[in-house]
Amino acid sequence: MTTQNQETASNQKVPSFIKNAGDVTPPPSEGAGGRLFWFLACAAADIPENGGGCVKYGDKQIAVFNFTRRGEWYATDNMCPHRMQMALSRGMIGTQGDEPKVACPFHKKTFSLETGACLNGDDYQIKTYPVKVEDGLVYISLPQPPPKEGAFELAK
Ligand code: FES
Repeated sequence: MTTQNQETASNQKVPSFIKNAGDVTPPPSEGAGGRLFWFLACAAADIPENGGGCVKYGDKQIAVFNFTRRGEWYATDNMCPHRMQMALSRGMIGTQGDEPKVACPFHKKTFSLETGACLNGDDYQIKTYPVKVEDGLVYISLPQPPPKEGAFELAK
């Protein structure tokens, strides 16, 4: 798919065909922690195969992973809790046993992409988020809508 990028107010580039990034689609279910909302985050083509990308709204950054080898997508906090680095989207993904994981590029702490637990035995935890891909677009589910002025933008 060919896309032209457009500049946003914050000079982040987002694909031009994403006109409504951050728009809320009908919530899919009532989750254990309350109602879930799906947000258009980016185009699937923006996330490299067997790699990650970062989407953000406001101060929050979410790492999105296209785990092609497993045929699965994952979304987690982008911030590594070890030294508070916004780095996990640039981490190497792999599998430990049957557990999909990401390794922080700084000091190689690894986290489960399913539960967010630190797999090194350290007492760190990251959040994970439901993610789905429909018609070439990636949606992330959050427990509440982000403020409209902070709609998702693809971080480059
Ligand atoms: S900052 Fe991620 S492992 Fe140290």
